[in-house]
Amino acid sequence: MSQIPDFADVSRPPGGPLRAPAALPGSALVDRFGRIATNLRISLTDRCNLRCSYCMPAEGTPWCPAGELLTDDEIIRLITVAVRDLGVRQVRFTGGEPLLRRGLERIVAATTSLRTPDGDTPETALTTNGVLLERRATALREAGLRRVNVSLDTLDRARYTRLTRRDRLPEVLAGLRAAAEAGLTPVKINSVLLRGVNEDEAVSLVRWALERGYQPRFIEQMPLGPADVWDRDEMVSAAEILSLLRSELTLTPVHAAVRGAAPAETWIVSDVRSPAGIVPAVGIVASVSRPFCRGCDRTRLTADGQLRTCLFARAETDLRALLRGGASDREIAGVWRGTMWAKQRGHGIDDGEFRRPDRPMSAIGG
Ligand code: 5AD
Ligand code: SF4
Repeated sequence: MSQIPDFADVSRPPGGPLRAPAALPGSALVDRFGRIATNLRISLTDRCNLRCSYCMPAEGTPWCPAGELLTDDEIIRLITVAVRDLGVRQVRFTGGEPLLRRGLERIVAATTSLRTPDGDTPETALTTNGVLLERRATALREAGLRRVNVSLDTLDRARYTRLTRRDRLPEVLAGLRAAAEAGLTPVKINSVLLRGVNEDEAVSLVRWALERGYQPRFIEQMPLGPADVWDRDEMVSAAEILSLLRSELTLTPVHAAVRGAAPAETWIVSDVRSPAGIVPAVGIVASVSRPFCRGCDRTRLTADGQLRTCLFARAETDLRALLRGGASDREIAGVWRGTMWAKQRGHGIDDGEFRRPDRPMSAIGG
């Protein structure tokens, strides 16, 4: 399939880069292309209790030394600057596996006690593998966390064990139930389809998730894991995922205008029943084949305090050194704005000169 009319093309505008709105607050994180970052993704640790084959080698990656990781208080200070001074309205906690961080509830509570300049509570979300979620879902909700995204690529226990190199599927399923019960909704499920490994589960993952009130989303595999596991020609593309789903399900696209800066394109699934009050929808994140860089609203912070403007950026700005060198909030905000201004136009995965980032996704924050 060469043309997929269901996908809105937000990456190749007919009329040049997006324009910043005229009434832009002076403090916002703006770049040269007129994009405004209102969404902070912060990695709380580069460690993980799984070893997904597309993300890490079996032995793991060399972890950041503890002294280089930001402390809880340093993280809270940077989130405060972002929300109070830089226009950030959404904060997503990622990893590695963020539930490995003991202070997570305190960090979430500190974040939700902040107010944006408009007086709003910043919206918080967590991206997790779900293994440790069951015990903490209620406490996280009480700390003010709004939503979770849980990674789950297969419903088959043996396959899960092979794919993640750990036998933890029952804990993930319990974590999902606990998250829904605690009200961390909508609970989204992120799945990466790998050719010859789990692409035959596309339809069953969707049915299974929708019947339980979860929102399934597929993410195209990106060149971020071990160097030898990504091959553009082998990748299960968004177009292919869509046709796999359409072979058994009836999908109706949700109009692109509803999407905004959200990376997932969404379809309503009309032949699966979700629990009352839940719209049965499936998302596809076509990060590689249909990049959404033009609408990107993200700024990223690694667990060791490096600011990145993009998952695929090759440059980082060392906020940890600033923090530990005694910089004021004002100085930190100024450096953050300057870094944002230099944000690259797009990830360029399909350009001949593309080079992977120097760190794996677990260290950058997914
Ligand atoms: N490509 C696409 N998605 C990935 N994830 C981890 N590594 C990759 C990759 N190389 C997913 C995880 C998780 C989310 C944060 O990103 O499965 O759901
Ligand atoms: Fe851990 Fe997520 Fe990487 Fe899997 S994809 S090893 S859960 S960080």
